[in-house]
Amino acid sequence: MRIYRAKDYDEMSRKAANIIAAQMTLKPDSVLGLATGSTPIGTYRELIAKYSQGDIDFSRIKTANLDEYRGLPRENDQSYYYFMYENLFRHVNIDMANTNIPNGMEPDSDAECARYEKVIESLGGVDLQLLGLGHNGHIGFNEPADHFARMTNCVNLQASTIEANKRFFESADQVPKQAYTMGIGTIMRAKSVLLIVSGADKAETLAKVIAGPVTPQVPASILQFHPNAVVVADEAALSGL
Ligand code: F6R
Repeated sequence: MRIYRAKDYDEMSRKAANIIAAQMTLKPDSVLGLATGSTPIGTYRELIAKYSQGDIDFSRIKTANLDEYRGLPRENDQSYYYFMYENLFRHVNIDMANTNIPNGMEPDSDAECARYEKVIESLGGVDLQLLGLGHNGHIGFNEPADHFARMTNCVNLQASTIEANKRFFESADQVPKQAYTMGIGTIMRAKSVLLIVSGADKAETLAKVIAGPVTPQVPASILQFHPNAVVVADEAALSGL
């Protein structure tokens, strides 16, 4: 793992956007694995700025998002489809036909998981996977468990994740109880991964991810075994090391 220290959230966002922009420049038809949540919003803002300045081009870029809530239609403002559209896609010249997100409305969860793995495979795999870090060490919606999930799967969200995400809903009751997520295996098959982390509230978890034992109880710790993993974190998030 290569670890880059940023002063604060904004610097983390700029550094992360520079890494993604470099990937896009070196390989204009890159497959980018994307994440939602609060952490990447600044990174997407920086990418939009680079696009507006003519520095990067999304016309041949393909994307595959990590996860999606089960049971939320695309047009629901809490769906990850909606998030991606609002925070990145609608601001850049990406072809929406080249964007991929698990379909939260597919009732047959096994079929949807198999379909999504096939989509990623047919794209030739993910070149650069952007990741945020959950307070419990999750990546995507891969919660602490007794094993690492190999493939895209449908998970029951942990109480702590529902609690953390309820800020986006009217109440905890409205947070979906299940989600589709790339598996840890899916994430590990990405050619490179970029984990971005901000804030003192994640310091203890990030220390375990970087320096603790590799265990499915801290799902992101598996990234220690990834041959090309980069962490960009701010000083507050690195304060536990
Ligand atoms: C989002 C995702 C999640 C988040 C994580 C951190 O697509 O996969 O794993 O990255 O929950 O969320 P924030 O950035 O809101 O702290």
